[in-house]
Amino acid sequence: MKAAWYRRQGPAQEVIEVGEMPSSPVGAGEVRVRLACSGLNPSDIKRRKGFNGQPHAFPLIIPNSDGAGVVAELGPGVQRLAVGDRVWVYSAQWKRPHGTNAEEVVLPVQLVQPLPQRVSMAYGACVGIPALTAHRALFADGPIVGQTVLVQGGAGAVGHCAIQMARWGGAKVIATVSSAAKAESARLAGADHVINYQKEDVSAQVMQITQGEGVHRIIEVAFGQNLPITQQVLRPHGVISCYASDAQPTPVLPFYAFMMKNQTLRWVFMYELQPDALLSALSDICLWLSGAGARGTPRPIVEHVDRVFALEETAQAHDYLDSGQAGANVVIRVSDIT
Ligand SMILES: NC(=O)c1ccc[n+]([C@@H]2O[C@H](COP(=O)([O-])OP(=O)(O)OC[C@H]3O[C@@H](n4cnc5c(N)ncnc54)[C@H](OP(=O)(O)O)[C@@H]3O)[C@@H](O)[C@H]2O)c1
Repeated sequence: MKAAWYRRQGPAQEVIEVGEMPSSPVGAGEVRVRLACSGLNPSDIKRRKGFNGQPHAFPLIIPNSDGAGVVAELGPGVQRLAVGDRVWVYSAQWKRPHGTNAEEVVLPVQLVQPLPQRVSMAYGACVGIPALTAHRALFADGPIVGQTVLVQGGAGAVGHCAIQMARWGGAKVIATVSSAAKAESARLAGADHVINYQKEDVSAQVMQITQGEGVHRIIEVAFGQNLPITQQVLRPHGVISCYASDAQPTPVLPFYAFMMKNQTLRWVFMYELQPDALLSALSDICLWLSGAGARGTPRPIVEHVDRVFALEETAQAHDYLDSGQAGANVVIRVSDIT
Protein backbone atom coordinates (compact mmCIF):
# COMPACT_ATOMS: atom_id res chain seq x y z
CA MET A 1 0.00 0.00 0.00
CA LYS A 2 1.07 3.57 -0.59
CA ALA A 3 1.58 5.59 2.59
CA ALA A 4 3.30 8.58 4.19
CA TRP A 5 5.26 8.15 7.41
CA TYR A 6 7.95 9.62 9.64
CA ARG A 7 10.66 7.84 11.64
CA ARG A 8 11.63 10.77 13.88
CA GLN A 9 10.11 14.04 15.02
CA GLY A 10 11.04 17.23 13.20
CA PRO A 11 10.11 19.61 10.36
CA ALA A 12 7.60 18.08 7.92
CA GLN A 13 9.77 18.64 4.83
CA GLU A 14 12.67 16.81 6.55
CA VAL A 15 11.00 13.84 8.25
CA ILE A 16 7.94 12.90 6.17
CA GLU A 17 8.53 10.13 3.63
CA VAL A 18 6.10 8.76 1.02
CA GLY A 19 6.36 5.27 -0.52
CA GLU A 20 5.18 1.65 -0.50
CA MET A 21 4.44 -0.25 2.73
CA PRO A 22 3.39 -3.85 3.40
CA SER A 23 -0.29 -4.20 4.40
CA SER A 24 -1.07 -5.28 7.96
CA PRO A 25 -2.87 -8.56 8.69
CA VAL A 26 -6.48 -8.38 9.98
CA GLY A 27 -6.95 -10.01 13.39
CA ALA A 28 -10.03 -11.00 15.39
CA GLY A 29 -12.38 -8.08 15.98
CA GLU A 30 -10.56 -5.96 13.41
CA VAL A 31 -11.51 -4.39 10.07
CA ARG A 32 -9.42 -3.46 7.01
CA VAL A 33 -10.60 -0.15 5.57
CA ARG A 34 -9.55 0.96 2.10
CA LEU A 35 -9.24 4.71 2.64
CA ALA A 36 -10.42 7.49 0.37
CA CYS A 37 -9.36 10.45 2.52
CA SER A 38 -7.34 11.11 5.66
CA GLY A 39 -8.15 14.03 7.95
CA LEU A 40 -5.24 16.12 9.29
CA ASN A 41 -5.74 17.64 12.78
CA PRO A 42 -3.56 19.97 14.86
CA SER A 43 -2.85 17.06 17.22
CA ASP A 44 -1.23 15.13 14.34
CA ILE A 45 1.07 18.10 13.72
CA LYS A 46 1.80 18.40 17.45
CA ARG A 47 2.76 14.71 17.62
CA ARG A 48 5.18 15.03 14.67
CA LYS A 49 6.72 18.15 16.27
CA GLY A 50 6.86 16.75 19.82
CA PHE A 51 4.60 19.53 21.18
CA ASN A 52 4.56 19.76 24.98
CA GLY A 53 7.38 17.20 25.16
CA GLN A 54 5.36 14.43 23.51
CA PRO A 55 7.76 11.51 22.81
CA HIS A 56 8.21 9.83 19.42
CA ALA A 57 6.19 6.78 20.44
CA PHE A 58 6.97 4.27 17.64
CA PRO A 59 9.98 3.69 15.35
CA LEU A 60 7.82 4.42 12.30
CA ILE A 61 4.56 6.38 12.40
CA ILE A 62 1.92 6.67 9.69
CA PRO A 63 0.20 9.85 10.93
CA ASN A 64 -3.45 10.91 11.33
CA SER A 65 -6.30 9.62 13.44
CA ASP A 66 -9.26 10.46 11.24
CA GLY A 67 -10.28 9.07 7.86
CA ALA A 68 -13.05 7.77 5.60
CA GLY A 69 -13.29 4.91 3.13
CA VAL A 70 -14.92 1.52 2.51
CA VAL A 71 -14.70 -1.76 4.41
CA ALA A 72 -12.41 -4.15 2.50
CA GLU A 73 -12.03 -7.06 4.93
CA LEU A 74 -13.61 -8.25 8.19
CA GLY A 75 -11.66 -10.10 10.87
CA PRO A 76 -13.10 -13.09 12.76
CA GLY A 77 -16.10 -12.15 14.93
CA VAL A 78 -16.95 -8.83 13.25
CA GLN A 79 -20.70 -8.65 12.48
CA ARG A 80 -21.68 -4.95 12.75
CA LEU A 81 -20.24 -4.04 9.34
CA ALA A 82 -20.12 -5.58 5.84
CA VAL A 83 -17.52 -5.47 3.07
CA GLY A 84 -18.27 -2.45 0.87
CA ASP A 85 -19.80 -0.33 3.67
CA ARG A 86 -18.88 3.37 3.62
CA VAL A 87 -17.27 4.27 6.93
CA TRP A 88 -15.52 6.99 8.93
CA VAL A 89 -12.76 6.12 11.39
CA TYR A 90 -11.37 7.86 14.47
CA SER A 91 -8.36 7.56 16.88
CA ALA A 92 -6.52 5.41 14.29
CA GLN A 93 -3.14 6.76 15.34
CA TRP A 94 -3.92 7.12 19.07
CA LYS A 95 -1.46 4.81 20.87
CA ARG A 96 -0.97 2.92 17.54
CA PRO A 97 1.82 3.32 14.94
CA HIS A 98 -0.30 3.17 11.78
CA GLY A 99 -2.84 5.94 11.18
CA THR A 100 -4.88 6.91 8.13
CA ASN A 101 -2.28 8.70 5.97
CA ALA A 102 -2.20 5.60 3.71
CA GLU A 103 -4.28 3.68 1.17
CA GLU A 104 -5.60 1.40 3.92
CA VAL A 105 -5.69 0.92 7.68
CA VAL A 106 -6.52 -2.02 9.98
CA LEU A 107 -8.47 -1.06 13.13
CA PRO A 108 -10.49 -2.53 15.99
CA VAL A 109 -14.12 -2.50 14.82
CA GLN A 110 -15.23 0.07 17.45
CA LEU A 111 -13.08 2.69 15.72
CA VAL A 112 -14.99 2.17 12.45
CA GLN A 113 -18.42 3.85 12.07
CA PRO A 114 -21.03 3.92 9.28
CA LEU A 115 -20.83 6.90 6.90
CA PRO A 116 -24.17 7.79 5.24
CA GLN A 117 -24.23 8.15 1.45
CA ARG A 118 -25.17 11.82 1.79
CA VAL A 119 -21.78 12.65 3.39
CA SER A 120 -18.71 12.94 1.14
CA MET A 121 -15.55 10.99 1.87
CA ALA A 122 -13.60 14.25 2.25
CA TYR A 123 -15.92 15.51 5.02
CA GLY A 124 -16.22 11.99 6.46
CA ALA A 125 -12.46 12.21 7.08
CA CYS A 126 -13.07 15.34 9.19
CA VAL A 127 -15.66 13.83 11.55
CA GLY A 128 -13.59 11.90 14.15
CA ILE A 129 -11.69 14.31 16.38
CA PRO A 130 -13.79 17.45 15.68
CA ALA A 131 -17.21 15.82 16.17
CA LEU A 132 -16.25 13.72 19.20
CA THR A 133 -14.71 16.78 20.86
CA ALA A 134 -17.68 18.99 19.99
CA HIS A 135 -20.19 16.41 21.24
CA ARG A 136 -18.40 15.94 24.57
CA ALA A 137 -18.04 19.69 25.06
CA LEU A 138 -21.72 20.33 24.28
CA PHE A 139 -23.51 17.40 25.95
CA ALA A 140 -21.27 16.23 28.82
CA ASP A 141 -23.39 18.21 31.29
CA GLY A 142 -26.81 17.31 29.89
CA PRO A 143 -29.19 18.43 27.13
CA ILE A 144 -28.93 21.95 25.72
CA VAL A 145 -32.46 22.36 24.33
CA GLY A 146 -33.49 26.05 24.49
CA GLN A 147 -30.09 27.10 25.85
CA THR A 148 -27.70 29.69 24.39
CA VAL A 149 -24.22 28.41 23.56
CA LEU A 150 -21.15 30.54 22.82
CA VAL A 151 -18.78 28.75 20.43
CA GLN A 152 -15.35 30.40 20.57
CA GLY A 153 -13.55 29.88 17.27
CA GLY A 154 -16.66 28.94 15.29
CA ALA A 155 -14.77 28.62 11.97
CA GLY A 156 -12.28 26.10 13.31
CA ALA A 157 -12.63 22.35 12.77
CA VAL A 158 -14.05 21.68 16.25
CA GLY A 159 -15.91 25.00 16.38
CA HIS A 160 -17.65 24.43 13.04
CA CYS A 161 -18.82 21.00 14.19
CA ALA A 162 -19.90 22.42 17.57
CA ILE A 163 -22.14 25.00 15.88
CA GLN A 164 -23.85 22.31 13.79
CA MET A 165 -24.26 19.90 16.71
CA ALA A 166 -25.49 22.66 19.05
CA ARG A 167 -28.25 23.48 16.55
CA TRP A 168 -28.96 19.75 16.22
CA GLY A 169 -29.21 19.69 20.02
CA GLY A 170 -31.84 22.47 20.00
CA ALA A 171 -29.70 25.39 21.20
CA LYS A 172 -29.22 28.95 19.97
CA VAL A 173 -25.63 29.65 18.91
CA ILE A 174 -23.36 32.67 19.18
CA ALA A 175 -19.98 32.15 17.47
CA THR A 176 -16.73 34.13 17.41
CA VAL A 177 -14.47 34.34 14.38
CA SER A 178 -11.63 36.51 13.07
CA SER A 179 -12.70 37.42 9.52
CA ALA A 180 -15.69 38.04 7.22
CA ALA A 181 -15.05 34.78 5.34
CA LYS A 182 -14.97 32.85 8.60
CA ALA A 183 -18.13 34.64 9.72
CA GLU A 184 -19.87 33.38 6.59
CA SER A 185 -18.63 29.85 7.30
CA ALA A 186 -19.99 30.02 10.86
CA ARG A 187 -23.36 31.37 9.66
CA LEU A 188 -23.66 28.59 7.08
CA ALA A 189 -22.96 26.08 9.85
CA GLY A 190 -25.98 27.48 11.71
CA ALA A 191 -24.71 30.25 14.03
CA ASP A 192 -27.56 32.63 14.93
CA HIS A 193 -25.10 35.41 15.77
CA VAL A 194 -21.44 35.87 14.76
CA ILE A 195 -18.94 38.21 16.47
CA ASN A 196 -15.48 39.15 15.17
CA TYR A 197 -13.31 38.64 18.26
CA GLN A 198 -10.45 40.65 16.78
CA LYS A 199 -12.57 43.72 16.02
CA GLU A 200 -15.55 43.69 18.39
CA ASP A 201 -16.07 43.67 22.17
CA VAL A 202 -17.19 40.05 22.49
CA SER A 203 -18.53 40.37 26.05
CA ALA A 204 -20.59 43.48 25.26
CA GLN A 205 -22.00 41.87 22.12
CA VAL A 206 -22.93 38.66 23.92
CA MET A 207 -24.64 40.51 26.76
CA GLN A 208 -26.57 42.63 24.25
CA ILE A 209 -27.66 39.55 22.26
CA THR A 210 -28.78 37.79 25.45
CA GLN A 211 -30.49 40.87 26.99
CA GLY A 212 -27.99 40.88 29.84
CA GLU A 213 -28.60 37.20 30.76
CA GLY A 214 -25.36 35.72 29.38
CA VAL A 215 -24.87 32.20 27.98
CA HIS A 216 -25.53 28.73 29.44
CA ARG A 217 -22.51 27.05 27.80
CA ILE A 218 -19.19 28.12 26.35
CA ILE A 219 -17.31 25.80 23.96
CA GLU A 220 -13.78 27.05 24.43
CA VAL A 221 -10.73 26.76 22.15
CA ALA A 222 -8.55 29.40 23.85
CA PHE A 223 -9.29 28.99 27.58
CA GLY A 224 -6.55 31.20 29.03
CA GLN A 225 -6.86 34.02 26.49
CA ASN A 226 -10.66 34.18 26.78
CA LEU A 227 -10.98 33.96 30.58
CA PRO A 228 -11.98 37.64 30.90
CA ILE A 229 -14.83 37.04 28.42
CA THR A 230 -15.88 33.86 30.24
CA GLN A 231 -16.13 35.71 33.52
CA GLN A 232 -18.40 38.35 32.01
CA VAL A 233 -20.75 36.26 29.87
CA LEU A 234 -21.16 32.84 31.53
CA ARG A 235 -24.40 32.63 33.51
CA PRO A 236 -24.54 31.39 37.09
CA HIS A 237 -24.65 27.56 37.02
CA GLY A 238 -23.29 27.77 33.45
CA VAL A 239 -20.71 25.40 31.99
CA ILE A 240 -17.46 26.23 30.22
CA SER A 241 -16.19 23.22 28.24
CA CYS A 242 -12.59 23.71 27.19
CA TYR A 243 -10.51 21.59 24.84
CA ALA A 244 -7.46 23.82 24.22
CA SER A 245 -5.44 26.74 25.56
CA ASP A 246 -2.43 26.79 23.21
CA ALA A 247 -1.61 30.50 23.60
CA GLN A 248 -1.83 30.35 27.42
CA PRO A 249 -1.15 26.78 28.63
CA THR A 250 -0.89 27.83 32.31
CA PRO A 251 -3.69 30.36 32.85
CA VAL A 252 -4.34 32.01 36.23
CA LEU A 253 -7.84 31.10 37.43
CA PRO A 254 -9.99 33.53 39.48
CA PHE A 255 -11.31 30.80 41.81
CA TYR A 256 -13.97 32.72 43.75
CA ALA A 257 -15.38 34.32 40.60
CA PHE A 258 -16.29 30.81 39.35
CA MET A 259 -17.22 29.40 42.77
CA MET A 260 -19.61 32.18 43.71
CA LYS A 261 -21.64 31.48 40.54
CA ASN A 262 -21.61 27.68 40.92
CA GLN A 263 -20.20 27.43 37.40
CA THR A 264 -18.79 24.19 35.97
CA LEU A 265 -15.34 23.93 34.37
CA ARG A 266 -15.46 20.92 32.03
CA TRP A 267 -12.14 19.58 30.64
CA VAL A 268 -12.44 17.76 27.33
CA PHE A 269 -9.85 15.31 25.98
CA MET A 270 -11.56 13.31 23.25
CA TYR A 271 -8.97 10.54 23.06
CA GLU A 272 -9.74 9.21 26.53
CA LEU A 273 -13.53 9.45 26.90
CA GLN A 274 -15.27 7.11 29.33
CA PRO A 275 -16.98 4.18 27.49
CA ASP A 276 -20.53 5.49 28.11
CA ALA A 277 -19.61 9.02 26.98
CA LEU A 278 -17.96 7.61 23.85
CA LEU A 279 -20.95 5.41 23.01
CA SER A 280 -23.36 8.31 23.48
CA ALA A 281 -21.19 10.52 21.25
CA LEU A 282 -20.86 7.88 18.52
CA SER A 283 -24.59 7.16 18.42
CA ASP A 284 -25.49 10.89 18.35
CA ILE A 285 -22.88 11.67 15.69
CA CYS A 286 -24.17 8.85 13.49
CA LEU A 287 -27.75 10.18 13.96
CA TRP A 288 -26.62 13.72 13.13
CA LEU A 289 -24.73 12.54 10.03
CA SER A 290 -27.78 10.61 8.82
CA GLY A 291 -30.10 13.60 9.37
CA ALA A 292 -32.02 12.05 12.28
CA GLY A 293 -32.50 12.72 16.00
CA ALA A 294 -32.44 16.54 15.86
CA ARG A 295 -33.84 18.16 19.04
CA GLY A 296 -33.91 21.41 17.11
CA THR A 297 -35.03 22.11 13.54
CA PRO A 298 -33.46 19.41 11.31
CA ARG A 299 -30.71 20.94 9.17
CA PRO A 300 -28.57 19.53 6.34
CA ILE A 301 -24.95 18.71 7.14
CA VAL A 302 -22.80 21.68 6.15
CA GLU A 303 -19.59 20.20 4.76
CA HIS A 304 -16.58 22.45 5.24
CA VAL A 305 -13.23 21.27 3.89
CA ASP A 306 -10.64 23.99 3.55
CA ARG A 307 -8.17 22.19 1.27
CA VAL A 308 -7.43 18.73 -0.16
CA PHE A 309 -3.84 17.57 -0.78
CA ALA A 310 -2.54 14.47 -2.57
CA LEU A 311 -0.75 11.74 -0.59
CA GLU A 312 2.56 12.83 -2.16
CA GLU A 313 1.91 16.36 -0.74
CA THR A 314 1.59 15.21 2.89
CA ALA A 315 4.47 17.41 4.06
CA GLN A 316 2.92 20.46 2.35
CA ALA A 317 -0.40 19.68 4.05
CA HIS A 318 1.36 19.64 7.44
CA ASP A 319 3.07 22.96 6.73
CA TYR A 320 -0.21 24.49 5.53
CA LEU A 321 -2.12 23.53 8.70
CA ASP A 322 0.85 24.58 10.83
CA SER A 323 0.98 28.02 9.13
CA GLY A 324 -2.12 29.27 10.98
CA GLN A 325 -3.51 30.36 7.61
CA ALA A 326 -5.59 27.22 7.17
CA GLY A 327 -9.35 27.23 7.65
CA ALA A 328 -11.16 24.30 9.19
CA ASN A 329 -10.45 20.78 7.96
CA VAL A 330 -7.40 19.93 5.88
CA VAL A 331 -7.68 16.61 4.05
CA ILE A 332 -5.27 14.26 2.27
CA ARG A 333 -6.79 12.27 -0.55
CA VAL A 334 -5.11 8.86 -0.38
CA SER A 335 -6.99 7.04 -3.16
CA ASP A 336 -9.67 7.60 -5.80
CA ILE A 337 -12.46 5.94 -3.81
CA THR A 338 -15.58 8.18 -3.68
N1 LIG B 1 -8.72 18.37 23.91
C1 LIG B 1 -9.07 17.72 22.82
O1 LIG B 1 -9.59 16.59 22.88
C2 LIG B 1 -8.88 18.39 21.48
C3 LIG B 1 -9.58 17.91 20.38
C4 LIG B 1 -9.45 18.60 19.17
C5 LIG B 1 -8.61 19.71 19.06
N2 LIG B 1 -7.90 20.10 20.16
C6 LIG B 1 -7.03 21.29 20.09
O2 LIG B 1 -7.90 22.40 19.88
C7 LIG B 1 -7.25 23.38 19.08
C8 LIG B 1 -8.15 23.71 17.89
O3 LIG B 1 -8.33 22.56 17.11
P1 LIG B 1 -9.10 22.68 15.69
O4 LIG B 1 -8.92 21.40 15.00
O5 LIG B 1 -10.47 23.22 15.88
O6 LIG B 1 -8.16 23.78 14.99
P2 LIG B 1 -8.48 24.88 13.88
O7 LIG B 1 -9.31 24.31 12.79
O8 LIG B 1 -7.18 25.47 13.56
O9 LIG B 1 -9.41 25.96 14.64
C9 LIG B 1 -8.95 26.76 15.68
C10 LIG B 1 -9.86 27.98 15.70
O10 LIG B 1 -9.69 28.67 16.94
C11 LIG B 1 -9.83 30.06 16.66
N3 LIG B 1 -9.21 30.83 17.73
C12 LIG B 1 -7.92 30.89 18.08
N4 LIG B 1 -7.77 31.74 19.15
C13 LIG B 1 -9.00 32.21 19.43
C14 LIG B 1 -9.52 33.12 20.41
N5 LIG B 1 -8.73 33.68 21.32
N6 LIG B 1 -10.85 33.36 20.43
C15 LIG B 1 -11.66 32.78 19.52
N7 LIG B 1 -11.24 31.91 18.56
C16 LIG B 1 -9.93 31.64 18.52
C17 LIG B 1 -9.10 30.22 15.32
O11 LIG B 1 -9.57 31.35 14.70
P3 LIG B 1 -8.58 32.27 13.84
O12 LIG B 1 -7.54 31.36 13.26
O13 LIG B 1 -9.48 32.84 12.84
O14 LIG B 1 -8.03 33.23 14.80
C18 LIG B 1 -9.54 28.95 14.56
O15 LIG B 1 -10.70 29.17 13.81
C19 LIG B 1 -5.89 22.79 18.70
O16 LIG B 1 -4.94 23.23 19.62
C20 LIG B 1 -6.10 21.30 18.90
O17 LIG B 1 -4.89 20.61 19.18
C21 LIG B 1 -8.02 19.48 21.36
